[in-house]
Amino acid sequence: LNHNVPRERRYILEVLFNGLRRLEYRGYDSAGICIDSSDLASVSEDQPRIPSNSPRAIVFRQEGNIEKLVKSVYEDVAATDLNLEELFPVHAAIAHTRWATHGEPAPRNSHPQSSGPGNEFLVVHNGVVTNYEVLKETLVRHGFTFESETDTEVIPKLAKFVFDKANEAGDDQGVTFAEVVIEVMRHLEGAYALIFKSRHYPNELIACKRGSPLILGVKELNEHVNSEPLYDPKFLSNPKTNEPKELFFSSDANAVVEHTKKVLVIEDDEVAHIKDGSVSILKFDHGKDKKSGSHSRPASVERAISVLEMEVEQINKGNYEHYMQKEIHEQPESLTTTMRGRLIRGGSCKAKSVLLGGLKDHLKTIRRSRRIVFIGCGTSYNAALAARPILEELSGMPVTMEVASDLLDRQGPIYREDTTVFVSQSGETADTLQALHYARENGALCVGITNTVSSAIARNTHCGVHINAGCEIGVASTKAYTSQIVVMAMLSLVIGGDTISNQARREAIIDGLFDLPNKVREVLKLDQEMKDLAKLLIAEQSLLMFGRGYNYATALEGALKVKEVALMHSEGILAGEMKHGPLALVDENLPIVVIATNDACFSKQQSVIQQLRARKGRLIVMCSKGEASLVSPGGSSRVIEVPLVEDCLQPVVNIVPLQLLAYHLTVLRGYNVDQPRNLAKSVTTQ
Ligand code: G6P
Repeated sequence: LNHNVPRERRYILEVLFNGLRRLEYRGYDSAGICIDSSDLASVSEDQPRIPSNSPRAIVFRQEGNIEKLVKSVYEDVAATDLNLEELFPVHAAIAHTRWATHGEPAPRNSHPQSSGPGNEFLVVHNGVVTNYEVLKETLVRHGFTFESETDTEVIPKLAKFVFDKANEAGDDQGVTFAEVVIEVMRHLEGAYALIFKSRHYPNELIACKRGSPLILGVKELNEHVNSEPLYDPKFLSNPKTNEPKELFFSSDANAVVEHTKKVLVIEDDEVAHIKDGSVSILKFDHGKDKKSGSHSRPASVERAISVLEMEVEQINKGNYEHYMQKEIHEQPESLTTTMRGRLIRGGSCKAKSVLLGGLKDHLKTIRRSRRIVFIGCGTSYNAALAARPILEELSGMPVTMEVASDLLDRQGPIYREDTTVFVSQSGETADTLQALHYARENGALCVGITNTVSSAIARNTHCGVHINAGCEIGVASTKAYTSQIVVMAMLSLVIGGDTISNQARREAIIDGLFDLPNKVREVLKLDQEMKDLAKLLIAEQSLLMFGRGYNYATALEGALKVKEVALMHSEGILAGEMKHGPLALVDENLPIVVIATNDACFSKQQSVIQQLRARKGRLIVMCSKGEASLVSPGGSSRVIEVPLVEDCLQPVVNIVPLQLLAYHLTVLRGYNVDQPRNLAKSVTTQ
């Protein structure tokens, strides 16, 4: 179908589509793009200020995934006489994939959102504008008509309002694009990363942000990371310098890395302006100048280029069918990378030890603090929960757990004497980031544990550790979980320090860490067994998982995997609480996974198994290799045997069969593994 589209034009479309495909894991309920047609503006009476060299912007929006958008764009282009022949020296186009917050997934609610007829201003948005209702009322009073239920639509309309007002005021010079955007930002509350395109400023783009992530990729002509260019580079030349350049705004490095590894990280309250192939960044503050009472002037900012440490191959599926499958199976390698350079084998005169460079300047403060508080959401929270017992044991300090949103809801006590540890795969989760700002305001030491170098959490914490698990694309977190636990086990060893009394334990853990990738390789051999189990469970309504001690987190995380991807109700239950409610659910139909690998809680778990069996519970017991008879006398239950490792590392091994189970259940039930219904990989809105 796309033969109607000239080669260069197709290049622009495909850059946008590929970018969206790379971002699809961030949101996938609808998508949209905007490109310029070859028709120059025919200046009408209602739009007198549109420059005559301004191309007409065409917007395509579609409910559903990116491929639906791609199809509809090429179909529309084929079916109509849209003029896409001619190109301009600079082409500014924008695209967006959405995770609905306000308004159902539908073309009218997709982005770009428009200022109204003529698309004078177009905006794509990641985040939430919390005061949109007030803004909308004001704009309606000024004659604007709204078409969507989104919070975003107020933004382009506000831009038009600001632009019209400035021009009515009769400023001969005309208001600049950056001035319009800054004025809009002054009125917006909430979190956002925005890209603006306007017919009043052809060939320019502006992006700005507060709270949500935003980067700008900078690719020079001679830098073709992946392939030969599909276009004649001349057409992308900067008209002034004649140096061809491509610039990519994105909320995520994944969309940029196949073009360039050179990026500028845009910070909060900055406005990045692309004009004539060059970039300028302005920073403004919300306050007013005390003397004059007017807004302080935005200051120009110099930003050094950062180089992305990721490879395009990392974000491809390789030989796997799904990202989640790939990420489960690459855990032996991701764990090895997590530990690389951080474990010291020891020798005749040197003790085994752990080195975490990112913490070394803050260790004294951490050890002197009154308590350690783990803060995170979803899987990251579960990983911290799995690590809590070993941190308590080795440090002797109180360790408390906080779900980020709950800490914020309660405005829970955080003190200067606290060490707060923020655990986040993406490093961008809005709740966790907000909790980080809160902890900083309260004077606590803030430590980050993230998988994303240069993420907001990595940048805003005082110190931290990168988990180095490699890019995780499947929405359900798998390899990041196991790497997070390993990092927190290493953190416990580092904080606990080297004392005579804990030496044997430390050495056992360090040996266990060295051997962990092999043990995970071994447990991955259960793949077929888990597929068979999934076949048995395919039609179930519900699945309970009982765990305790180190493996309470395993029960929570296993249940979270089943719930989020297989869309089956599943609940992780603290086995110690069984008698206080959950036992009422037990009958001969409901399948129950009991995690009973051998550790200090083993005999208690054996007793739980007996009590469940006494109520005819339908049990699937996870136990240590060779111990089936201890948990399933006479072969009365289905058993999953896993290799035994040091107790604090056992959650890393035990989660793997449950990840595989969730994966196979999802495939067998016919659901989308990598893009589960209603979820998104990193939730950058609160
Ligand atoms: C979302 C994802 C989860 C993830 C959670 C926290 O809910 O779907 O997989 O565990 O966010 O994300 P973070 O990036 O902070 O670890």
